[in-house]
Amino acid sequence: MYNFTFQVPTRIHFGKGTISFLSELKDYGRKVLLVYGGGSIKKNGIYDKAMSILKDADLEVLELGGVEPNPRIETVRKGVSICKSENIDMVLAIGGGSTIDCAKVIAAGAKYAGDAWELVLDGSKIAGALPVFDILTLAATGTEMDPYAVISDMTKNEKWGTGSKFMVPAMSILDPEYTYSVSKKQTAAGTADMMSHTMENYFSMENADCQKFMAEGLLRTMIKNGPIALNEPTNYDARANLMWAGTHAINGVVGDGCSPAWCVHPMEHELSAFYDITHGEGLAILTPAWMEHILNDDTLGMFVDFARNVWGLTGDDDYALAHAGIDALRKFFFETMGIPSNLRAVGITDEKNFEIMAQKACDGSKGSFVPLSKEDIIEIFRAAF
Ligand code: NZQ
Ligand code: ZN
Repeated sequence: MYNFTFQVPTRIHFGKGTISFLSELKDYGRKVLLVYGGGSIKKNGIYDKAMSILKDADLEVLELGGVEPNPRIETVRKGVSICKSENIDMVLAIGGGSTIDCAKVIAAGAKYAGDAWELVLDGSKIAGALPVFDILTLAATGTEMDPYAVISDMTKNEKWGTGSKFMVPAMSILDPEYTYSVSKKQTAAGTADMMSHTMENYFSMENADCQKFMAEGLLRTMIKNGPIALNEPTNYDARANLMWAGTHAINGVVGDGCSPAWCVHPMEHELSAFYDITHGEGLAILTPAWMEHILNDDTLGMFVDFARNVWGLTGDDDYALAHAGIDALRKFFFETMGIPSNLRAVGITDEKNFEIMAQKACDGSKGSFVPLSKEDIIEIFRAAF
């Protein structure tokens, strides 16, 4: 196990009706910038409820709506400018990962003299941030309890993750009922995303039994509850289990002490940067191809554990078992959850950007437990094509 420092200062209010805790914002100042996406929170009633609580708490609310899936730096800049010109005290995001990530960088940008894109390229430049709060409406990214934010500049085909302790939300409200309206596509993609966060850690966990066994429990929770949520969108327990498992997949509990660098995420971020695809779908398409690529005598043991402990498979032939575990994952993503099964199915219909995407993904995944060269990544893209 590697050394680590574990500290997650986010106060979580979990369950039905916890939106009432929004009144806590009055302890942090008077002016709130409310950040939200394309309008789902207006359709499902969360917006009205939140505004009424904020008003009762005597808070003044300014708004920035229209945050895009794969949030753009232009929207971050708009938010930063409002924060600076209006002397905003805190940022409240209501939405999925894109909205919360956008709010995090707005909060950091409000305390930074230069352009916010500099903070996306280099998280160490973040020396402070306005307090960030959120109401999560989509179980997927884990941004509600982590220090990261992922922002795109589509004019340059760039999408980068940044991170800072200053961007960890001070308080997050997780009401599973608020995820009832999430579409089948986003429920499936969200499940794939949280599984990917867990698996990026899982395969680099040798000798970290504590994290490894927790990760297996998280994966089993996602595999059990993802299909229930897909088919019964208002099943409270399925939505609740997915939501809480997704939060733990990336808040450090299972990741700290493991190999520091991920590799499937850097590959997927390139696909999103060039083709604006849904993050979780890209991960689902790439992960089985990546697994087949890195399966060898050194990694075999982890894949056997994955097959046995996550999928409940049995057998004496280790390689057959390892392949069966990967096949089970493929079947889960592409048959049970209905995720598109290859790059062509999400609109990536030729190989023209493979080389440049692979080079950038290679730079972004340095230090991962199985090192990947540019050529390795091109092979993975081709296998997923
Ligand atoms: O914009 P609105 O109208 O709210 O609609 C959204 C959006 O169209 C909709 N949605 C969200 N909650 C809903 C809902 N629709 C109905 N009912 C609800 N309750 O879902 C669509 C997708 O939303 P988005 O926020 O983009 O999805 P997600 O939460 O999957 O976030 C994806 C982004 O997070 C980044 C990804 O790269 C991507 O940019 N990630 C962030 C991470 C982090 N901060 O730690 C880690 C991840 O690995 C990931 O990279
Ligand atoms: Zn992810």
